[in-house]
Amino acid sequence: MYINIVFVYLIVGMIDISVLDQQIVWHPYSPLNDTVYPEVIRAEGTRLFLKDGSSLLDGIASWWVAVHGHAQPELVKALSNQAAQLDHVLFAGFTHAPAVSLANKILSLLGKHQARVFYSDNGSTAVEVALKWALQFHLNIKETSRTKFIAIEGAFHGDTFGAMSVSGRGLFTDPYQSILSKVDFIPFPTEENKDMVLEQFETLCATFTHAAFIFEPLVQGASGMRMYSASILDSCMAIAARYDVLTIADEVMTGFGKTGTLFAVQQVKHSPDMVCLSKALTGGLLPLGVTTCNSKIEAAFYHQPKDKMFFHGHTFTANPIICHLASVNLDLIAAPHFMENIQRIERAHQRFVQTYQSNYTDVVESIQCLGIILKVEFISPGGYLSSIRDRMYTFFYSRGILLRPLGNVVYFLPPVIITDEELNFVYETIIQCIEEFQNLE
Ligand SMILES: Cc1ncc(COP(=O)(O)O)c(C=O)c1O
Repeated sequence: MYINIVFVYLIVGMIDISVLDQQIVWHPYSPLNDTVYPEVIRAEGTRLFLKDGSSLLDGIASWWVAVHGHAQPELVKALSNQAAQLDHVLFAGFTHAPAVSLANKILSLLGKHQARVFYSDNGSTAVEVALKWALQFHLNIKETSRTKFIAIEGAFHGDTFGAMSVSGRGLFTDPYQSILSKVDFIPFPTEENKDMVLEQFETLCATFTHAAFIFEPLVQGASGMRMYSASILDSCMAIAARYDVLTIADEVMTGFGKTGTLFAVQQVKHSPDMVCLSKALTGGLLPLGVTTCNSKIEAAFYHQPKDKMFFHGHTFTANPIICHLASVNLDLIAAPHFMENIQRIERAHQRFVQTYQSNYTDVVESIQCLGIILKVEFISPGGYLSSIRDRMYTFFYSRGILLRPLGNVVYFLPPVIITDEELNFVYETIIQCIEEFQNLE
């Protein structure tokens, strides 16, 4: 047996990692087949360095996390320093400075409406916590009829079961439909349908059967960077408040400057009862989920008998290394140049949109931006499985840019340290892509 293991190890050591990879590793959101993926061996700033000697400009901050670019030196240092001091301790029955200090920073950035911070592992778990809080809040105050949620069609809140339940039903959720929980969906709000959406929303709220309304504020990310107005969201939040339906702002994607303000909810007048954060929270080095709540939610759990406490906690809750890393990341985010960079990119995106939004209408449905998110939606059927998606991915990849289209939507959401030169290079390549597509039509 031992001999065999040594033998396998020697063989494995000699063969290329990508061959191994295709045999034993299952990649996320990827078909399981014989594809051999390029191996990334290093990342720094805006660039990913591949084993074949080439490099890519990371135009989507590796799924919206590496806001300061990769391997930001202060973050790398924070990580190793904290690991040497206190690597991990269970968070039930103990506390530590990294968790408390980070919670303070999160609450001061979010503003006075949020009162408590709960740690978990990623965006999906941050959403699970909010959903469970909402359901239990109503039970703790003896309101037993509120067992459903309201969400927006097309939403994406994560891959765990609660998060899937409140996500738009379709391709991603169909296989699991039989055990997803009860959710009422309102149509995606637009200027054209807003009156109907608000009426439908109020009718739902007036049934007094919903624990909470969950939304991605201002932009639905994974479903194609679909943008909607702050005023419609504000009206929904006002209605929800009137009927005691709690509100959950899922800022997992939008948080930390993506929409031009530090948090997207800062563009609406009403404050959510709960906020979910993850992704850029740690600057992209390690995963962390955070759910915050206001004093109303807190009060329903405060000084309750033990059987009414929140029975939830992940093994790595408030891992000190990750909390300290996030804390240093929030210092970088609070420094003036962070929002200055956001504004610089926002202005550049706006110039791009103004220049091109009325061109290419034969192949392009729309060109839009919000904050540092730029999106080009191509006219092509098939949604997420649109046949042009892979062609566009390869087009950008072969020119040294990582953009990962969401079906027929190409979006650009760069690390904020991207230079003007790099921005222009990506803009030019997007135009080349549109023109190539136009020629093929
Ligand atoms: C708005 C939103 N919520 C939740 C999630 C889930 O986050 P995670 O992939 O970290 O579980 C995502 C992921 O893209 C997201 O965009």
